[in-house]
Amino acid sequence: IMSKPIPIAVVGSGYVGLVAAVCFAEMGHPVICVDNDERKVAALRGGDTLIHEHYLPELLGRYRNDRVRFTTDLGEATRECDAIFIAVGTPQSETGDADLSYVEAVACEIARSLTSYKVIVEKSTVPVYTNEWISRALERNGVERHLFDVVSNPEFLREGTAVADFLHPDRIVVGADSERAGAILGDIYAPLTSGEYYQRADGIPGMCSVSEPPPLLMTSTKSAEIIKHASNAFLALKISFINAVSNLCEATNANVEQVARGMGLDSRIGPKFLRPGIGYGGSCFPKDVAAFRSVADQLGIDFNLLSEVEKINVQQKRRFVSKVRSALWNLRGKRLAVLGLAFKGDTDDIRESPAIEIVHMLLNEGCSIAAFDPAAIERTRQVLPEGNNLRYATDAYNACADADALLILTDWTEFSELDLRQINQSLRYPIIIDGRNLYDPAVMSDHGFTYLSVGRPAVH
Ligand code: UGA
Repeated sequence: IMSKPIPIAVVGSGYVGLVAAVCFAEMGHPVICVDNDERKVAALRGGDTLIHEHYLPELLGRYRNDRVRFTTDLGEATRECDAIFIAVGTPQSETGDADLSYVEAVACEIARSLTSYKVIVEKSTVPVYTNEWISRALERNGVERHLFDVVSNPEFLREGTAVADFLHPDRIVVGADSERAGAILGDIYAPLTSGEYYQRADGIPGMCSVSEPPPLLMTSTKSAEIIKHASNAFLALKISFINAVSNLCEATNANVEQVARGMGLDSRIGPKFLRPGIGYGGSCFPKDVAAFRSVADQLGIDFNLLSEVEKINVQQKRRFVSKVRSALWNLRGKRLAVLGLAFKGDTDDIRESPAIEIVHMLLNEGCSIAAFDPAAIERTRQVLPEGNNLRYATDAYNACADADALLILTDWTEFSELDLRQINQSLRYPIIIDGRNLYDPAVMSDHGFTYLSVGRPAVH
């Protein structure tokens, strides 16, 4: 093995922290993963991943209590490692900007145990200038300036494909204003950038493998911070753009799929992230677009484009509810089958889920709903308990029993492989309103459905 193991601490065992921790171990580094939630730490030590994510159970099984240790003791972790990755939450505050109080608390706690040189790494998505605030917090808490560097190493993983994205990234971005710190980050990622990791025979069974090692882009710390916000905002912009185009297609009886294909073949535009739907959700895009807009505001920069991206995203959900109304006439008293609660397929995450917002809107309109999701029902129950007008179904067909129409709100693969004959028999009326374009309208027409989707001509 060419690359050398670097002792790493990862603070925060949420999506980014936990995935980073087990993936660093997979790359050969000894890792201490710190969380102040004792119950989480106990669960992780016991092998419970807490989140639904491909390959995570395998990696946790391989390395827990061995190359990855879980602890609540940040002091010990600080003393034992060379690099400390901060991967705690940066939730949205009331004003739209990122709430950095967890990051500050971690910085202050690190300061108490920092006696030899460490690289402090921002892994959470944070606004530009956060590195300077972290430095200031450390210094105010008595740490001498030569004992640390703060670098930005944004993470671009997606939920559902987090482990594969981490180990096979398009690029690795390291924003460092010191050579020493940049070199340590270079060593940490060497197994990927040298290609060494991809030649290993004991890789994760079933996982994709790339032949090309990812490029590592070295930038200033501030540039790296901005790269993360700008990337997420740009992806959200792509989605809002195609959603607006899909509305134009509906108004003209054109087909957004053909339009997106025609646009995407231009290599400058690219085919990805041009799937129209019911708007973007999740724990990142809504929060990051708002935070980036707020950064621009504070700097006196007009970036109203981002407000428009948000506006289209809100309208897209309302538009879907109008579409349901246009198919069913009155909504009050209608019984609806809903497939999908998670913010996208392949995850049990319901944060900022457009599906759940739409369920809320429909319940407010007086509909009664039977909902099914392969993974997200338990989490949804916490925020939307079963009641008079809401029931959780055991499967897709059970949700359809006696419903006036079927709504598809999340792009789970299994929702694109339904037994259409059985669905048709279960529904009172053969009406499907698909917010994710999972079916070919011609096929739906053959099966006798009235089928409304996004940006494509309706079939009856
Ligand atoms: C997103 C980014 O894709 C990651 O690169 C980034 O690291 C992550 O945020 C983050 O900042 O942590 P994620 O939120 O997991 O990842 O989900 P995406 O797959 O990007 O989907 C976000 C939302 O956009 C979903 O609601 C999805 O349904 C929607 N979407 C996506 C569309 O409506 N159309 C598309 O073409 C693509």
